[in-house]
Amino acid sequence: MHGDKQNVFINLTRCLLLGVALCAPAAATAAPAAGTATGDQLFQQHCYTCHNGGTPKAPRLDTLMQMPREAIYAAITSGIMSSQASALSAEERAVLADFLGVSADRERPAKPACNAPPGWLDTGSTLRVEHWGMSADGRRFIPPAVAGLAREELPQLALEWAFAYPDAVRARSQPAVLGSALFVGSQGGQVYAIDSSSGCVHWQYQADAEVRVAITLGEGDAAHLLFFADTAARVYALDARSGTLVWSTVVDSHSNATVTGSPIFYLQAGRARLYVPVSTTEDNETPDPQYSCCTFRGSVVALDALSGEREWKTHTIARTPTVHHRNPRGVPQLGPSGASVWNQPIVDAKRGLLLFGTGQNHSSPADDNSDAVFALDLASGKVVWKTQLTQNDAWNSSCLSPPGARFNCPEEDGPDFDIGASPVLVSQGERAILVVGQKSGDVYGMDPDTGEVRWKRTLARGGLSGGVHFSLAADGDTVYVPIDDYDNYLPYPPDRYDHRGEQRPGVYAVHAFSGETRWFRSARDACDGADCGGFSAAITAIDGAVLACARYGRCFAFDRDSGATLWSYDTAREFDSISGQTAQGGNVDGPGPVVAGGRVFINSGYSFYTGAAGNVLLSFRPVTGSGNTRK
Ligand code: HEC
Repeated sequence: MHGDKQNVFINLTRCLLLGVALCAPAAATAAPAAGTATGDQLFQQHCYTCHNGGTPKAPRLDTLMQMPREAIYAAITSGIMSSQASALSAEERAVLADFLGVSADRERPAKPACNAPPGWLDTGSTLRVEHWGMSADGRRFIPPAVAGLAREELPQLALEWAFAYPDAVRARSQPAVLGSALFVGSQGGQVYAIDSSSGCVHWQYQADAEVRVAITLGEGDAAHLLFFADTAARVYALDARSGTLVWSTVVDSHSNATVTGSPIFYLQAGRARLYVPVSTTEDNETPDPQYSCCTFRGSVVALDALSGEREWKTHTIARTPTVHHRNPRGVPQLGPSGASVWNQPIVDAKRGLLLFGTGQNHSSPADDNSDAVFALDLASGKVVWKTQLTQNDAWNSSCLSPPGARFNCPEEDGPDFDIGASPVLVSQGERAILVVGQKSGDVYGMDPDTGEVRWKRTLARGGLSGGVHFSLAADGDTVYVPIDDYDNYLPYPPDRYDHRGEQRPGVYAVHAFSGETRWFRSARDACDGADCGGFSAAITAIDGAVLACARYGRCFAFDRDSGATLWSYDTAREFDSISGQTAQGGNVDGPGPVVAGGRVFINSGYSFYTGAAGNVLLSFRPVTGSGNTRK
């Protein structure tokens, strides 16, 4: 934050803290035309109720004030805040964006540029981290030949380079690795091909909107292609060598459709398909009493990976929503809705199945498609089996409004126990088990043939921001389970989930076929008694260790057999980036560590909920005598 901006920020923070409803016009705000409200007045009138913590998911003012002006303007004009800002004229939106945003430095390229010759990329390289789940069965286990990093070397990991995502306040896309290249998306919608040894940029592509997903590599005839989706539900295929667009297509026409779960590429009998999970931002509309909640239905879309043509689309909720009741303001409420697919589907090659979990319903009536695990036929998209893990779960952000203002909160009122993480398929000889984690803090072992639950363990209390969020990982017959259990800052009555036991943020290792705990490392213990948040971000297994980052930015390598700390590093700080600009680390959430060619790559910075913003991609490699050894 620079000069004038900082003053505005300090002024505003001060008056917000003092609870003053309207603040004096700040010095840095452009002088408005006669009759136009100032930026801070507009903010107070149209944005303050949600963005002061009233809606926990909405970034606070200090985070908004670190965003580029153009990103603010886009969010309130054509992006996820357009309906919230619909009462504002174009001029007022511009005034508001000037007031909130920092002027973006678009001409500043992500530097330094690589000087590699044409043919720099070996698309046939076997050094591949292909997508979010890292293998078709979603185990997030990186084999030794790819990781290139032995357990013994982990204590020597030291920072090698830091890459600053320009104009970003979060780092939310998991990199893919192919040979010497690392491909990653960003909040500004840029997708980068980065040299993994130096951090220089080979090419950069500008998508229409933010790219939150992991980049996915193709195979076979599509070996030269990269796939990803943006938050406006557009899917792209690029040529990995040049960054040029091969095709792009929008997979859902609902105005609140988004893609934040990563697509998966799979070759079945010579057919190259890309499976895309579709989720929604409709929840953000629901605190508005005039909003007719809700009409979005989750889905998975199968595309021909070479052409982008749609082969099939299967909705999690088969029927279209109809009017269920009117809210106290007389506004029709529709259902069933929701059951978004937030996670990357995985592939059970042997059974020809595509497997994924769903989120809660957004409105009444709750149906049997929410918080459920689905198995679809890979080729046709037909539902082969479906198992619901929590019944009667309809919830939206309106339920977080103060009593008397929860107009659109469905009568079920939660518990909001999404299945946010992909299932993991663990196979040993003839035996196979599908392991599923939920925001409830429950973990399940399911029969992949039938969907029958073989075992269930309650590992944590669960809650709105509880239990399992982004992933599991598996090595052999051990499944690693990161637990967040960290919703203390939400405005629910603090005892709402107490009947479910104590909060247990940390990392578990459990036996895949029985659910028995092999070890548990609590977050407090790992952080030497300090509060470092829960473990929400995805985790990653390599031979001998599991890598995980706690919410407030501290990252760890834990020993596979005991959970003891082999390495830890606090990413919540400033870094000198290779472009010369200062990069900021912060909360770590969403994507997990990627290990390839002897390096560990970690994104830091995520302002979701009360998180610390940031914009950095870090590369670590072992350096003898680096002094990072602990415990
Ligand atoms: C009804 C509640 C509500 C109101 C009113 C509201 N917002 Fe938001 N806003 C949210 C929520 C919730 C999010 C987080 C959405 C997400 O990340 O899914 C958000 C996110 C944002 C973001 C971040 C977008 C991004 O790309 O991450 C911006 C910028 C923003 N709001 C600006 C505004 C402005 C400016 C106003 C006033 C005109 C406003 N909002 C009014 C709830 C609201």
